[in-house]
Amino acid sequence: MDVFEAIKGRRSIRSFKPDPVSDADLEKILEAGISAPSAGNCQPWEFVIVKDPKNKQKLVQAARGQSFLAEASVVIVICADINRTASRYGERGRNLYCIQDTAAVAQNIHLAAYALGYGTCWVGAFDENAVAAAIKAPPGVRPLIMIPIGKPGETPKPTPRVPWKERVHRETF
Ligand SMILES: Cc1cc2nc3c(=O)[nH]c(=O)nc-3n(C[C@H](O)[C@H](O)[C@H](O)COP(=O)(O)O)c2cc1C
Repeated sequence: MDVFEAIKGRRSIRSFKPDPVSDADLEKILEAGISAPSAGNCQPWEFVIVKDPKNKQKLVQAARGQSFLAEASVVIVICADINRTASRYGERGRNLYCIQDTAAVAQNIHLAAYALGYGTCWVGAFDENAVAAAIKAPPGVRPLIMIPIGKPGETPKPTPRVPWKERVHRETF
């Protein structure tokens, strides 16, 4: 699939069929994820693959009851090992680069999963401490994004965008 087709065609999916995500596809998706750029190539990301229904329920609870997380065959919890970037870049690494690095990974994961025929949703509304407890995150490792992946159970309409011409400024604001 052409990259522009993937970018334009991807939608947030919040209903999933029970079909599994094959290990081969999951590996491709993770490989695409870690191909993202990161500040100083520090690669602060850590991934927790959650498939067990009991563990997925813990994530649902931590995410204000967003039950579609448990419908998906797999949930990837993308974490940042903060010190990996902070040790090199200090506060900017801790508070900015780590977040940006994991966001880049997440977008690659969405696009790769879509290109392989899966649906995903970026889930950011969750109690970070509750997710950290559910996945037994070690100190200094922050869960930042959760991505459910599975065969889509819906075909949502495209969501609107403000035309780029209204948001682009030439040389200065
Ligand atoms: C940082 C961030 C956090 C988000 N958190 C959630 C979430 O917790 N639950 C959810 O259903 N969607 C969440 N979304 C998905 C957005 O609602 C969605 O991307 C947006 O409405 C545009 O729709 P589209 O993805 O289909 O283009 C999040 C997206 C981003 C980028």
